[in-house]
Amino acid sequence: MLGVCYYPEHWPEDWWASDARRMAALGLRYVRIGEFAWSRIEPDPGRFDWDWLDRAIATLGAAGLQVVMCTPTATPPKWLIDRYPAILPVDPDTGRVRGFGSRRHTDFSSPDWHREAMRISTAVAQRYGDNPHVVGWQTDNELCCHDTTLSASPAARDGFRVWLRDRYGSIAALNAAWGNVFWSLEYRDFDEIELPVGAVTETSPAHRMAWARYASDAVVRFHADMVAIIRAHAPGRWVTHNFIPMNETGVDNFALAAPLDFAAYDNYPLGRADLALARTSAAEFRPWMRTGHPDFQALLFDQTRGLTGQPFWIMEQQPGPVNWARHNPRPAPGMVRLWSWEAFAHGAAVVSFFRWRQAPFAQEQMHAGLLRPDSSEAEAWPEITRLAAELAALPLPAPTRAPVALIIDAEARWLSGIERQGVGYDYDAVVAQWYGALRGLGLDVDCAAPGSDLSGYALVLAPALVMPDAGALAQLRDTPALVVLGPRSGAKTQDVTIPDGLPPGPLHSLLPLRVLAVETLRPDCPGEIRLGEASFASTRWRESLDPGDCGVLAHYEDGTPALVRHGRAHYLATLTDDAFLTGFFAALCAEAGVAVTPVSGGLRLRRRGPLTFAINYGDEAVVAPAPDGAVFVLGGRTVGARDLSVWKA
Ligand code: GAL
Repeated sequence: MLGVCYYPEHWPEDWWASDARRMAALGLRYVRIGEFAWSRIEPDPGRFDWDWLDRAIATLGAAGLQVVMCTPTATPPKWLIDRYPAILPVDPDTGRVRGFGSRRHTDFSSPDWHREAMRISTAVAQRYGDNPHVVGWQTDNELCCHDTTLSASPAARDGFRVWLRDRYGSIAALNAAWGNVFWSLEYRDFDEIELPVGAVTETSPAHRMAWARYASDAVVRFHADMVAIIRAHAPGRWVTHNFIPMNETGVDNFALAAPLDFAAYDNYPLGRADLALARTSAAEFRPWMRTGHPDFQALLFDQTRGLTGQPFWIMEQQPGPVNWARHNPRPAPGMVRLWSWEAFAHGAAVVSFFRWRQAPFAQEQMHAGLLRPDSSEAEAWPEITRLAAELAALPLPAPTRAPVALIIDAEARWLSGIERQGVGYDYDAVVAQWYGALRGLGLDVDCAAPGSDLSGYALVLAPALVMPDAGALAQLRDTPALVVLGPRSGAKTQDVTIPDGLPPGPLHSLLPLRVLAVETLRPDCPGEIRLGEASFASTRWRESLDPGDCGVLAHYEDGTPALVRHGRAHYLATLTDDAFLTGFFAALCAEAGVAVTPVSGGLRLRRRGPLTFAINYGDEAVVAPAPDGAVFVLGGRTVGARDLSVWKA
């Protein structure tokens, strides 16, 4: 269940066999290779050098290792760019071409790029599709990492025009749908439409939403074509991709995952904590500086599992300090093991470490590996030795469905950036807050796309479901679960206009109310939401409701409705504080008969089949909230600092 990322092209060939032996002895089974090796696979146009890669695979295979092969499209070589300079993307903010010299210097809209990417993918897939040591494939590497979804190139503009023509049919229909009479923005032809960049002030939100959709679709199409090539040449092998979370790329990862067997995620808790917690105080940040925030990894594990509903892989697990965040501390002792276990608790099938040996050269020379550049064992090594032994002793059951579904809406993310209406609303932060409240109740959570099957859940929560289509609506209507929709749900039509009859638009059939007005507040100047005798913060985003036929459960400070209910469905009209969400979700669980186990500090819970995992991110031991008579299969009733216990109910 463990693996590693390896770059045979970085090391003398006479090291490979001993590397492979040491990998196997450590308890690793999978080795991912090849994702950046294009310049060695095809050193000159059309001249392929497979011999070294054949020997590398044979060497790994001879040691009993199984190879995960990649398409090398994250790093097209210099000669390719010189031949086809239109492959290079254009930075939407500066209008400058993003040049050769690092990676991902490609434009998803470029016909040259599409053709060349598929050509090299075909060559690699033909060569290794039926290699007995190659058990599966990773497409590309972290598609859209480094902000590469959007390009403002001529090819992107041309592709966008074609996409718009397909979607709207006539320019009159587009003008009407977008409301282009506003500011005299009417077009006479699709060929007049530019990308929404470089304008004096705000461009039309419909225009930007269309561009977000176009760009996401372009990545999805590129990827689907690559998967089809691999499938054609690699019979019986699985195909995955190591996803960058949607909040970093703007791609609809649910759509991107559709052709895959399962999804993978690259887990860098400290690098990402530094970015995610950037705005918190030192006091809030320090406890998690060397561990990552206890909810952050878990949310992304659950999102990754939700992409296909299958057990996922951690394709890259941080083994020590990385090099690319603003600050790069060492993990606290024990965290590499604990992060790995946490991934397994959330349904991982495999955890693979990045990377085998720290490179003494180039951009990532300050990034830890399992080995130091001199091949001595680096800090995480003993933790992985221990992890391998523990995994061997504890067979993991198949992951089971959680009682709670959290709907993750790519379009809500896009809208959050397109129509700010104040800086306080950040869709990703809202999702993280709702998720954190659920985790604080010790609940397991599945992440689901709008429109996915919601049967079997007790609670369905959508922090915002901005433009529900008929499928999403039908699922919400049919689920027997208690449903909570957050502010901005049903706020817009597909073309970012206010729906007829006011929001929540089509959700009116579920929640017969009207949203009359929206205000946004500074986070430090909140209003109130009152529930019974208790008062909580109503902050950042507040909607005024005509509750219609809904019952009112909570009010603002002026007595107007802030939380309403109709049948099983609830509408929460404001962003609020953690205490409100925790109490509200706990009450819903009580109604739905879902047991909660409140946890605090660094302790979190997660179940996998009959096993319950208690993961302690904190620096002090805590008592596991295990029932009397629980049988501990790992650890015991006291969960040590940065340690875990696992029991059978
Ligand atoms: C990942 C990437 C790897 C490597 C790693 C360093 O995002 O896929 O190639 O750069 O980061 O932490």
